[in-house]
Amino acid sequence: MSNSEQVLVLVKPDGVERGLVGQVLARAEARGYRIARLELRRATPELLAEHYAEHAAKPFYPALVEYMMSGPIVALVLEGAQVITAFRTMAGATDPVKAAPGTIRGDFGRDWGTGEILNIVHASDSPASAAREIAIWFP
Ligand code: RTP
Ligand code: MG
Repeated sequence: MSNSEQVLVLVKPDGVERGLVGQVLARAEARGYRIARLELRRATPELLAEHYAEHAAKPFYPALVEYMMSGPIVALVLEGAQVITAFRTMAGATDPVKAAPGTIRGDFGRDWGTGEILNIVHASDSPASAAREIAIWFP
């Protein structure tokens, strides 16, 4: 029996555009997690409606969709015991201004003065969301 977990990670369009894919992958690899899937993708409104279903009714949703469709995304699945909790910690707080130094968002993110949160990565926040999101991005 293995207690290995999988997590869906997305390097969002700002992360890809700014050339941060390598740094995100390097951190995951340096931590010892296995890359199980990896693909350059483009989000569609349909895919995002599934992925961000919990946010569909929120005021920031239209801007979130525009952000996530502003360029290519690198989608990956990381594997390892407790990788969901570990990668959420590595990503840092949602708002890069509040994210701790040492986290991906805290080291590479900032407020760009546009009123929207650009935060480089997405990571599943629970085993249930990881299973759901992996099925959406890697059916
Ligand atoms: P994610 O799902 O992308 O990993 O981010 P998260 O769990 O840290 O944050 P969540 O609450 O799930 O929000 C999803 C994404 O929506 C955008 N957002 N904008 N303007 C706002 O108040 C606002 N709140 C959230 C961010 O891109 C966030 O990552
Ligand atoms: Mg979330």
